[in-house]
Amino acid sequence: MANTIQGIRGMNDVLPQDSQRWLHVESVFRDWGRAYGYKQIRMPVIEPTGLFVRGVGEHTDIVEKEMYSFEDSLNGEKLTLRPEGTAGCVRACIEHGLLYNQTQRLWYIGPMFRHERPQKGRYRQFHQLGIEAFGFDGPDVDAEQILMLADLWRRLGLTGLQLELNSLGNAEERAAHRVALIAYLEQFQDILDADGKRRLYTNPLRVLDTKNPALQQMAEGAPRLADYLGEESRRHFAGVQALLDAAGIAYRLNDRLVRGLDYYNRTVFEWTTDQLGAQATVAAGGRYDGLVEQLGGKPCPAVGFAIGIERLLLLLEAQAVALPEALPDVYLVHQGEAAAKAAFLLARELRESGLDVILHAGGGSFKSQFKKADASGARHAVVIGDEEVAAGTVNLKSLRDGEQGQQQSVNVSELRAVLAGN
Ligand code: HAM
Repeated sequence: MANTIQGIRGMNDVLPQDSQRWLHVESVFRDWGRAYGYKQIRMPVIEPTGLFVRGVGEHTDIVEKEMYSFEDSLNGEKLTLRPEGTAGCVRACIEHGLLYNQTQRLWYIGPMFRHERPQKGRYRQFHQLGIEAFGFDGPDVDAEQILMLADLWRRLGLTGLQLELNSLGNAEERAAHRVALIAYLEQFQDILDADGKRRLYTNPLRVLDTKNPALQQMAEGAPRLADYLGEESRRHFAGVQALLDAAGIAYRLNDRLVRGLDYYNRTVFEWTTDQLGAQATVAAGGRYDGLVEQLGGKPCPAVGFAIGIERLLLLLEAQAVALPEALPDVYLVHQGEAAAKAAFLLARELRESGLDVILHAGGGSFKSQFKKADASGARHAVVIGDEEVAAGTVNLKSLRDGEQGQQQSVNVSELRAVLAGN
């Protein structure tokens, strides 16, 4: 086919055969968010570029290499397709005064954009479900959010996800650690790779986050942030762990867990799986007590996380989790002019009584209509010909496995009751 236009690499269509899975997880999300007192917020997918440079961090991979940024050709504004939801959520809260003397528990869902190399579980347009809580500084909300995720896995029927946990302390603790870390890493200048050299003074923690085997020994011996945490940070982290222990939620402490966004402090966590290859993190987040102030609001503690929905769906598939089916109750087959009109009205009546009905359209023989009825997955075919119209009846045929072919003539006035009994 000449001249067809293709979708953009790494940006996927969700086709009808897959959308039911999306609708299912989205409906689970809604009930689950409500159960914990979270309310939905909706933000635009485009924000001023400066929001992410200031919010996510100038020297992060996201800001340095992955943002879809452009200039509005009409007014020259610098804009970016959001690579994540936290910065926009904070912006919206500040802009609308949602953080004055009040707390907020918020969730959002929608597409995010990162110019990464696409592969299984990693896309350029992907979707996140995000959760953000504002105005709470105790470890209880950190622990509750982690528990929320454990509960979500249970609600969705997922098993085997692992929790990794770390504390990044506060800004001063990180600064002291950073000085020690840079001094340590400077001794290895000659073996650092290009990324490492670049990050040595901009983002030294990320130098440790290396997959390069030659650098791993160096990373092993580096000063540990945990040794620089002060009394309060330690107490907060111990508080999170005590609640997780009490709830029986297992975790692995991982002091290499640094996250790819700059706004975090104290608790950070990731839920990972070994069933999705390299893209193992299904949900991740943590505390970001400084971000609201950094983006121009009054200081306000905050904690949140985001789930990668595509990864969640891949995991549901990998674990062969059966999802509720949404098949129609009735496929309405009809032939003849009077029957077409009667079927049209009967379909409306059945739907008003709560049934899902596909009204055959496009004509064709009974045989070809039955084929479509079968393919639709409907439980019943309801058949009307002109004879049935005259008699005030329909033919009801079961399409269910094992009962196929069973057919009975039913009075139209009794159809609803008969269908309800089936
Ligand atoms: P993040 O770790 O950058 O955090 O992303 C969260 C999750 O989004 C990842 O664990 C992954 O499941 C999914 N994800 C990220 N990039 C991609 C991609 N290219 N393709 C598919 N899935 C992807 C954040 O975005 C923070 N805003 C989370 C947060 C909220 N922290 C506090 N509040």
